[in-house]
Amino acid sequence: MPDNLKDFIKPGSEEELLVKQLDFSRLPRHVAVIMDGNGRWAKKRKLPRVAGHRAGTKSVREVVETCAHLGIEYLTLYAFSKENWKRPKKEVATLWRLLKEFLKREDKVLVKNKFRLKVIGQIEAIPAFARREVERVKELTKNNTRLTIVLALNYGGRDEIVDAVKNIVNDKDFDIDTLNEEKFSQYLYTNCVPDPDLLIRTSGELRVSNFLLWQIAYAEIWITQDFWPDFRKKHLFQALIDYQKRERRFGDIYPQGDQN
Ligand code: FPP
Repeated sequence: MPDNLKDFIKPGSEEELLVKQLDFSRLPRHVAVIMDGNGRWAKKRKLPRVAGHRAGTKSVREVVETCAHLGIEYLTLYAFSKENWKRPKKEVATLWRLLKEFLKREDKVLVKNKFRLKVIGQIEAIPAFARREVERVKELTKNNTRLTIVLALNYGGRDEIVDAVKNIVNDKDFDIDTLNEEKFSQYLYTNCVPDPDLLIRTSGELRVSNFLLWQIAYAEIWITQDFWPDFRKKHLFQALIDYQKRERRFGDIYPQGDQN
């Protein structure tokens, strides 16, 4: 186990047993998460839905911390989808307020740990008070390189593809004969972010819900029945153990890098 994990994992704990099964030379570079089940978590406890979102911010902190300790380079979190505007006004307002409070509270932690904040989605349409906070923390952390936290805000995968097409069409210098997958990727919101290797979804739904449609072409998918507010480091370790058991063939008959 790498030294920086030793203080983070309790000796003799379930987490320690899981971490010992990990091959640290084969961790994913990029983990993406669909944080689902906050509402059901709250309902089960006879609490308002927003209590589930508030509890979900604790899991956000935990998954960020755990990725950083493992040395994972990119973590993308689906925090607000284009479809989420359909929810009751009060719930939508609370989600943006929680985001603002989270960034206000955690900005020093992000700076101290050399985390970088990046945002994907139609950010111009989010409430100004949340946008200002996001822009402030993005600017504050823009030169950091340890862990990039990509927040998907007002994000839709189909929108992202349509926006990329619009940008290509509006780029007068673009020679359409040179268009290929790699070039197209540069026009997506995720330009400069490698594709996710592992996609995690909580609360048992078997859907991708318009999340990173282009980028998850070859991602391994891991689903837990547990709700997002119950997500802890052990879940991430379990996902990584499963990920390492899969053979990533990318359409080939051999796993990547193996020709025997
Ligand atoms: C899905 O649960 C979760 C969301 C729509 C939002 C996720 C937001 C947070 C965890 C809090 C704020 C985020 C950050 C980054 C600080 P759901 O409401 O769809 O649950 P349900 O399917 O049980 O109704």
